[in-house]
Amino acid sequence: MEDSKKNKLKEILVLLKYMGFEKIDVRSPNTSPLSNLEKAVAGCKKCRLHETRTNTVFGEGPANADFMIIGEAPGEREDEQGLPFVGAAGRELDIILELAGIDRKDIYITNVVKCRPPGNRNPDMDEIESCIGYLKRQLEMINPEVIILLGNVALSLVTGTASGITKMRGKKMKYLSYTAIPTFHPVYVIRNPRSRELVAKDLKEAKRCIG
Ligand code: URA
Repeated sequence: MEDSKKNKLKEILVLLKYMGFEKIDVRSPNTSPLSNLEKAVAGCKKCRLHETRTNTVFGEGPANADFMIIGEAPGEREDEQGLPFVGAAGRELDIILELAGIDRKDIYITNVVKCRPPGNRNPDMDEIESCIGYLKRQLEMINPEVIILLGNVALSLVTGTASGITKMRGKKMKYLSYTAIPTFHPVYVIRNPRSRELVAKDLKEAKRCIG
């Protein structure tokens, strides 16, 4: 978050405390724009994925995170629990975050697509198009300083095609007005353990982008 915004937020918090509202959670009240958007996603039927989902997976993390990670789509465990990266890919992501010295609690984690594609297939282009407005609104609300694009589907937001991660990983790019760094998806890292260090390196670089 920009310094001027942080200072304004601090001023508002001091004022609220002075007025006796110190117990109000002003960061993520459940009527916040982000939780209203989460409710809209929970009822979404814009594409066929709603027919087979157990839960939508909106995203998780502080509403004012400087660092955002964007994966592909929920898998089986995520669909069961309604939370991102809680299965095998999540365990791998946790290992990489630790290597990079990043606390999962400090970052916002979400996916391009909010419902599980059956059998964990890649989301189709029309499914991505139906869902992308939600991610754009999450970005506007959270306004992170840097985003990590995990794998080809997330990279396709910038390039328009779901390929090229090997060539593009680690290269800083723009997605909308945001600084984005693509890197390998944790599922790729599970299959290619030697890529783990590269992903940790990309995350460390992303950390350096935060002023
Ligand atoms: N893979 C993803 O891309 N996202 C998840 O949330 C889990 C697995």
